[in-house]
Amino acid sequence: MKRFVGGVLAAILVAAGAGLAVVLTGAYDVAASTSHTALGRWVLETTSRNSVVRQAAGIRPPSGFTDEQVGQGARHYKESCVYCHGAPGEDSTDWASGMRPEPPYLPDAVGEWSDAQLFWIVKHGIKMSAMPAFGSHHGDEDIWAIVAFLKTLPGMSPEQYRTVGEQSEQGVAGGKAG
Ligand code: HEC
Repeated sequence: MKRFVGGVLAAILVAAGAGLAVVLTGAYDVAASTSHTALGRWVLETTSRNSVVRQAAGIRPPSGFTDEQVGQGARHYKESCVYCHGAPGEDSTDWASGMRPEPPYLPDAVGEWSDAQLFWIVKHGIKMSAMPAFGSHHGDEDIWAIVAFLKTLPGMSPEQYRTVGEQSEQGVAGGKAG
């Protein structure tokens, strides 16, 4: 038993030493022009996912969203997010494909997250990735509107994407004029 415990401890020390050697010698290639190693990717993705789940656990989302919020969120999305994440009928910019991790295509990705988790990601961003913290310049109301819009992205057609937000803006303007 003693020998077994000693073996496990030695293995842990060797692994920690190897990890430290990678950190200190520059052996890990940080170039964004190549992909992460499978291990590097697993460490980053797992850390990030578990962190979001934990941090968002205390957030209470509203019971539902209005069309007005969806329209407002769409305008924020078209202004701040589409360049990196793309949208139905719109590719992300060329430089977004040079990021590691590459920003996911959100119509396919948002279904994996709850409303509270989406709110947390947009408000706080994700360290060591290009995902910015929008909470530094957007209030909670704006961020819930963005979440309202994100929830409508899966299955949205390019035509719907083109008009969402614009329609409600015209509606408001038209209402005022009338
Ligand atoms: C400068 C590029 C950039 C901009 C602008 C940006 N994002 Fe991101 N976003 C990223 C990257 C990169 C990731 C992947 C982070 C990771 O995997 O660790 C990400 C991840 C996300 C995720 C998690 C998706 C998943 O399944 O991993 C959500 C949700 C998200 N962004 C929403 C938004 C919204 C909403 C906006 C606009 C308000 C926005 N992002 C603007 C780069 C960006």
